[in-house]
Amino acid sequence: MIGPRAVFLVGFMGVGKSTAGRALARILGWDFVDLDERIVEREGRGVASIFAEAGERYFRRVEGEVLAALRGRERMVVACGGGTYALREHRVLIDSMGAAIWIQLPIEEALRRCGAGADRPMFRGPAEARALYERRLPSYRAARLQVDAEGLAPEQVAERIAALLVPGGPA
Ligand code: S3P
Repeated sequence: MIGPRAVFLVGFMGVGKSTAGRALARILGWDFVDLDERIVEREGRGVASIFAEAGERYFRRVEGEVLAALRGRERMVVACGGGTYALREHRVLIDSMGAAIWIQLPIEEALRRCGAGADRPMFRGPAEARALYERRLPSYRAARLQVDAEGLAPEQVAERIAALLVPGGPA
C-alpha cells in the first residue's frame, strides 16, 4: 500500500490509460489530467499533425514541458501517452512527482483495442507495434506499481488501482 501525491498511468497504446484515469480520478475525488489533451491544447493542433508537421522529437519536447508544468500538484491522476514513460528524462520527472502505475495488457489485446491506429502516429502496423512494445517493456516494468488489466473494463482497472492506493499519504 502506498500513498502517493499523484499517480501517473503508463503503458502501451490501447490499454485504456485515459478512460481508466478518468474513472480513477472520480473514485478518488482527485483532478484528472490527460497529457495528450494538454499537448493538443497547447499546440492548437492534433497529435497526428504535430508528428507530421514537427516530428517526434518536437512532440517529446512539448510532452516534457507539459509534464514539468504539473510539478508540485497533488491529488492528481495523469493519463500519460504510450511513449511518455519510455523516455528516460520523462521517467525521472514522473518518479519525482508521484507514482507511476503500469497498466499491463497482453500486446494482442492492446493491438485489438488500437484498431487501425488512425490517430496514433506511433502505431505503424502490428509488427512494428509489437517491436515497439518489446523495446518499451523494460521502462514500463520500472513503474512503481503494476496492474493486470487483461479482460477488465477500464472502470474495473480504476477500481483495482484505487484499492492499491491510500490517498493523502506520503509519496
Ligand atoms: C504515443 C502514444 C499516444 C500519443 C502519441 C505517441 C506513443 O498516446 O502520446 O501518439 O509513443 O506510444 P496513447 O498511448 O494514449 O495512444
